[in-house]
Amino acid sequence: TYEEGYACWLRYHAVEDEPLRQSYLRACASIAMPGASTVLDAARRELSDGLRAMLGTAPAPASAEDASIVAGVFGSDPRLGAKSLTGAEGVRLDEDGFVIRRSIDGPIVLAANTERGVLYAAFRFLKLLQTGASIERLDVTDSPANRLRMINHWDNMDGSIERGYAGRSIFFRDGRFVEHLSRIRDYARLLASVGLNAVSINNVNVHAAETRLIAEDLLPDVARVADVFRAYGVRLFLSVNYAAPIELGGLATADPLDPEVAEWWAERAETIYRYVPDFGGFVVKADSEFRPGPFTYGRNHADGANMLADALAPHGGIVVWRCFVYNCLQDWRDRKTDRARAAYDHFKPLDGRFRDNVALQIKNGPMDFQVREPVSPLLGGMTNTNQLMELQITQEYTGQQRHLCYLVPQWKEALDFDTYARGEGSLASEAASGALFDRLIGGLAAVSNIGDDPNWTGHPLAQANFYGFGRLAWDPRAAADDIAREWIRMTFGGDPQVIRVVSDMLLQSWDIYESYTAPLGVGWMVNPNHHYGPNVDGYEYAKWGTYHFADRQGIGVDRTVASGTGYTSQYHSPRSDRYESLSACPDELLLFFHHVPYTHLLASGKSVIQHIYDSHFEGADRAAELLARWDSLQGAVPEATFREARERFVHQAEHAKEWRDQINTYFYRKSGIPDAHGRTIY
Ligand code: GCU
Repeated sequence: TYEEGYACWLRYHAVEDEPLRQSYLRACASIAMPGASTVLDAARRELSDGLRAMLGTAPAPASAEDASIVAGVFGSDPRLGAKSLTGAEGVRLDEDGFVIRRSIDGPIVLAANTERGVLYAAFRFLKLLQTGASIERLDVTDSPANRLRMINHWDNMDGSIERGYAGRSIFFRDGRFVEHLSRIRDYARLLASVGLNAVSINNVNVHAAETRLIAEDLLPDVARVADVFRAYGVRLFLSVNYAAPIELGGLATADPLDPEVAEWWAERAETIYRYVPDFGGFVVKADSEFRPGPFTYGRNHADGANMLADALAPHGGIVVWRCFVYNCLQDWRDRKTDRARAAYDHFKPLDGRFRDNVALQIKNGPMDFQVREPVSPLLGGMTNTNQLMELQITQEYTGQQRHLCYLVPQWKEALDFDTYARGEGSLASEAASGALFDRLIGGLAAVSNIGDDPNWTGHPLAQANFYGFGRLAWDPRAAADDIAREWIRMTFGGDPQVIRVVSDMLLQSWDIYESYTAPLGVGWMVNPNHHYGPNVDGYEYAKWGTYHFADRQGIGVDRTVASGTGYTSQYHSPRSDRYESLSACPDELLLFFHHVPYTHLLASGKSVIQHIYDSHFEGADRAAELLARWDSLQGAVPEATFREARERFVHQAEHAKEWRDQINTYFYRKSGIPDAHGRTIY
């Protein structure tokens, strides 16, 4: 049972339909893979193990002339065809793209421009079998929309994980790297299976121990881990401490314009690349939540990022510079300062001033991974700077992997958001990928939700978020329900009842979670620090800039130009007009943009207060139904998985009631307005 959760979506269930199994067996009788390298070995192993598990027999090794499967880099065998930049229907094949072809009675050809592409083709081919597809004829051409498809770990060297809800770090323990790397290899394999190609292994808050990751005594360990990832086509990045020249180098300053500082970083970069020749680069959280940065020296973020970029450029590395910069020492009495404005106000004026090997990493929303936020106006706000969209897979504000919250629909809304940066149809996903403004570097990054729990993610169904992020990083146009269904099939097999019940549960879970937590886009209302559970005023008088401003008349944050903080002006028209207007603003974001009386009527026809009551009563009921629906699957999913999830659904149902009652009671007491349906409020 340990194995069941551990294997995630790579369980490779035996194909039960006998005619289908026979047709697969005929098609996969033998294999030829010209060439040798660690990445090709990984692909070879995966095909062999996967096919053996699904069909009962692994393909026999054969020469390319005789083999039923030929896999490799274009040009390495005549059957693979010549190097190609375009595939079927003119799809551009970049370095990670691949083709899978089979004409009647011909061999199955898996071919790509690079070995990494071959590995991706192998996983895709296996997925066809995992999902029961016909492979009689194949003509697949696929290439990722994003060059950078990255996971950020917030792991510390003591083994703890900031905002981690699935155990301890798989990289570090007791101040050191773990000794055995087999779990890291299994992790790398999961990353590759969904096309992820970059990973940063340490927390963006780089404390004393982790500052040393770029020091000579720890680089051999960094190199060992990089080797493991390399075999699966994943490049390793490190988060660095901006003050490292002082703390590690003994310099008097970390001023980016000081030549000695630049020299120190250049020397560090050279040393790092001696250990890790394909090192990805640095992830940097600077001048953010008490982390050091260029502001200390009166410099701006372009000065700060460019100096590091120059150090990495000769070696092909990049700087991922985070835009999570805001005043975290705000006075709650100050109604003018608006945290939502901060990233745009800091970075927009610097547009065009960053080096080509810098990418600005922008959280999907302007605040901090709330259950509901608008899309950051920086995405599509900058036209001349590489951008990455940052998502949070770990469920910090969305139930901490104790509540079910399938985040793919939320991410889809962010990716599909029309920024209007170049007129209608200027999607945020294309601002991030670079396609919108012809940038070379771009993509998606997300904060990991995995730890050393036997099933990786704590809540077994939270694996769907990990899988879903990978799928969207490759193809932001993939649909949330397709992703859910294929994940279920690969994880639990083809039982139609399991597919139906689990996909309904997943697809409704974000809405359910939202309905019993902070209403209408206002955010927070959680306990300070750990951010779990209801506390309406938990952050109301705090310094973090996260307020709801509820009084006896109404609630919400006025971010309009007319009477508020002016945040709405950071969007392109007609977005800005829509958010500015009380009547046109979408209900679900109303309290993010406007302060309104409780009696204000939503587009739905309900008053704000009645919406709060209704959604919280319904939300708690729906959370309880999740438990009942899960119970209907006993015996149909693996026992350990059933138990692990059930425990959490029991808790979620209870905890949703706590949310319901605290929120409803708070607003009943503030407003004095009773529930129209006379339900119990305390
Ligand atoms: C949130 C989170 C922190 C994290 C920060 C970040 O504020 O609570 O733990 O460090 O985001 O993204 O840097």
